[in-house]
Amino acid sequence: MGMKIKPVIEPDLSISIGKMRLKNPVMTASGTFGYGQEFEHFMDLHQLGAVIPKGISLAPMPGNRPPRIFETNGGILNSIGLQNPGLEVFIKERLPYLKSLKTNLIINFFGNTLQEYSELAQRLNALEGISGLEMNISCPNVKCGGIVFGSDPKMTYRLVSRIKKLTSLPLIVKLTPNVTDIKVIARSAEEGGADAVSLVNTFRAMAINIHTRKPELGNVTGGLSGPAIKPIALRMVWEVFQVIKIPVIGIGGIVKAEDAIEFILAGASAVQIGTANLIHPKTGLEVIEGIRKYLLQYRFPHLQNLIGLLGK
Ligand code: SIN
Repeated sequence: MGMKIKPVIEPDLSISIGKMRLKNPVMTASGTFGYGQEFEHFMDLHQLGAVIPKGISLAPMPGNRPPRIFETNGGILNSIGLQNPGLEVFIKERLPYLKSLKTNLIINFFGNTLQEYSELAQRLNALEGISGLEMNISCPNVKCGGIVFGSDPKMTYRLVSRIKKLTSLPLIVKLTPNVTDIKVIARSAEEGGADAVSLVNTFRAMAINIHTRKPELGNVTGGLSGPAIKPIALRMVWEVFQVIKIPVIGIGGIVKAEDAIEFILAGASAVQIGTANLIHPKTGLEVIEGIRKYLLQYRFPHLQNLIGLLGK
């Protein structure tokens, strides 16, 4: 009699965010992946769980004065200032390619006022080929809008509940870490009807050139991202996971599968790869494979088994 070899059961990496089904939990973070097409020569984009292009506004935005990127130890500072071509140009020049991808397309959007957020949400809702929306209420690099909503629980609630009424698409709300207690804002987003929250956007930060005695960024301050912020982002995901029921999407310095697995154990249902795309564009695909191997190694049949398993 020969030895019986147990068949290897392929783990199921799929997850749901509202009515959106993702084949795996790995997305690209908005602003670090252009409009997808820039990365097509480096990797098979279809394998990603979702693609999130650079955020869009109703009108084109030129962004902040340069320099707008500065590398720090273990991270980068950016002060892009939400540069984008505006909705019309986006629809004409970028959306056709993005729609052709065989993965979920999540559109990141923002406005300066409740009215602008509302109009964008309505117009995006009317387009075909979009799987979900990510609403940015967390940019640290512009004076009005965005973070003004994301730093105040009442305004977060007001904005999210209004937008939720205007769209049938799953709504992810992207949170800023630049608040006293991110749990309070996450709860407001959930009460407003968000289908998920994504956290964290960048930490307000700065760098100085001691020879010119000037700031390294044209905007003086910017947002810090990359491995330097990972432990703080992880703590925030873990805290938020304990106080809300909707899915949490973990963002912050993920450069390898082990980082993503930490976020999932802390409670993230999915993750976004950001700064790592700028260094090694294939990071997302390697993270998917690493999660798969981890599930196989520890014999978890489903990614769901892992979410929030910390200490259990
Ligand atoms: C930027 O464009 O300034 C960055 C976007 C953001 O942090 O939300």
